[in-house]
Amino acid sequence: MNDATASRTILVWDLPLRVFHWLLAGSFAAAFATGDADRWRDVHAQLGYTIIALVVFRIAWGVFGTRHARFSAFPLAPAAALAYVRSLVAGRPAHHAGHNPAGAVAIYLLLGLALATGLSGLAAYAELGGKWAEEVHEALANTMLAVVVVHVAGVVVGSLAHRENLALAMLTGRKHGAPETAIDRARPLVAAALVAGVLGLWTGLLPTPGLDLGTGPGGSAAPARSDRHADDDD
Ligand code: HEM
Ligand code: HEM
Repeated sequence: MNDATASRTILVWDLPLRVFHWLLAGSFAAAFATGDADRWRDVHAQLGYTIIALVVFRIAWGVFGTRHARFSAFPLAPAAALAYVRSLVAGRPAHHAGHNPAGAVAIYLLLGLALATGLSGLAAYAELGGKWAEEVHEALANTMLAVVVVHVAGVVVGSLAHRENLALAMLTGRKHGAPETAIDRARPLVAAALVAGVLGLWTGLLPTPGLDLGTGPGGSAAPARSDRHADDDD
């Protein structure tokens, strides 16, 4: 990057990607906080369900989204990730308008773990696989937390190395970069559809198969999960 491009900010992250990110981060934090308590079980399951839906959206957006949101823009490449980490350690970090190759590894891990944690949670909720599903679910959730910690640490290190607030860029969508690497549209309508979809899940307007929450047309009048498990609260 030369001095002229270094001082310019360009639109890199479209709005659906940013909305996805912060909904995912918030839902993960809330799901983790509610996992242990039996009286939060339905809220927890709903949060986990939201996470599964968000990841499904992100996979579609990785194919149909804007330039830096596409999976083809950040392939899973361990050798490139190592080379990037080396460039960081050497104090000469290679600049990437979109995701850097090390960040890409964390992203694929997070998306995969989010899906696996969510699905194992559904199995535990449906009491499939007995204790085993619960153990697997807990182990996956804890592994995901570890990757989140590494991810956030990577964001801090990357921000310092590039002298650019990357967390802020995930809010504004703007980063330093050459104008020809910018995206031209923020895609607000897709972001609105994503928010509407999540609201649909929470209001019961959209069905949540496999969850017995008793909300709206997708639910039933069966007793809430927390009633059935009143005996094993922590
Ligand atoms: C305070 C907490 C967090 C901050 C500051 C943060 C910040 C960021 C930033 C700056 C990026 C873009 C990285 C880049 O420049 O290449 C990113 C991407 C990402 N983060 Fe986070 N993050 C946080 C929490 C989380 C959590 C809790 C999760 C998952 C549960 C998560 C999942 C992801 C994913 C999947 C991406 C890829 C975005 C995409 O391409 O869709 N983040 N995050
Ligand atoms: C990625 C999303 C999720 C995260 C991060 C997460 C996290 C957790 C955590 C940390 C626990 C506590 C484990 C323990 O200490 O015993 C837990 C328990 C549980 N979660 Fe999730 N969860 C997620 C998704 C889901 C989903 C989608 C469902 C159901 C639809 C679900 C159902 C359950 C159930 C039933 C338990 C209790 C298992 C037991 O009785 O030990 N979770 N979850």
